[in-house]
Amino acid sequence: MSIAICPGSFDPITLGHLNIIRRTSRIFDRVVVCVMHNAAKPSPMFTIEEKLDMVRRAVSRYPNVEVDSSSGLLAEYAKQYEGAVIVKGLRAASDFEYEFQMNLINKKISPELETMFLTASEKYTFLSSSVVREMAMYGADLTGLVPNEIIDDIQRKAQRWRNV
Ligand code: PNS
Repeated sequence: MSIAICPGSFDPITLGHLNIIRRTSRIFDRVVVCVMHNAAKPSPMFTIEEKLDMVRRAVSRYPNVEVDSSSGLLAEYAKQYEGAVIVKGLRAASDFEYEFQMNLINKKISPELETMFLTASEKYTFLSSSVVREMAMYGADLTGLVPNEIIDDIQRKAQRWRNV
């Protein structure tokens, strides 16, 4: 059985992430979406529990996709799934530099671990979680940026942040 791990900080999950997860689910038998901590993004908008809940609702229509979280290293996490491949989306050349470095670090920890990249769908190349967070802070419409199921969660959280 082929297994893919789609890791990310998902703060929050966007339609760009979902597009990569859906396409991965058509290539691999089993897909594990793993909500993780990104040390370069130290002040997330959402807690791990909130992210897990939003990701679960967003992927519920895909039967071979499951959701998990880990506070550890990705390469260590992946060891529990024998032969699993990490799948990440690439929007631009700037993504590649960072992902290439991550891939090398992961390989240093776990030399057998492979990473594959899917190019982002053209309509989502502009999209990122930080764009979504900023739009939400201005009370902008998030339709077409994130899964419909989680729009209210983001708006509620942004409203609370605005009132602090
Ligand atoms: O969605 P992101 O922020 O691009 O995802 C990055 C993520 C969470 C996959 C990456 O930061 C990660 O792998 N975090 C877990 C800790 C780890 O293994 N870091 C790499 C070695 S320093």
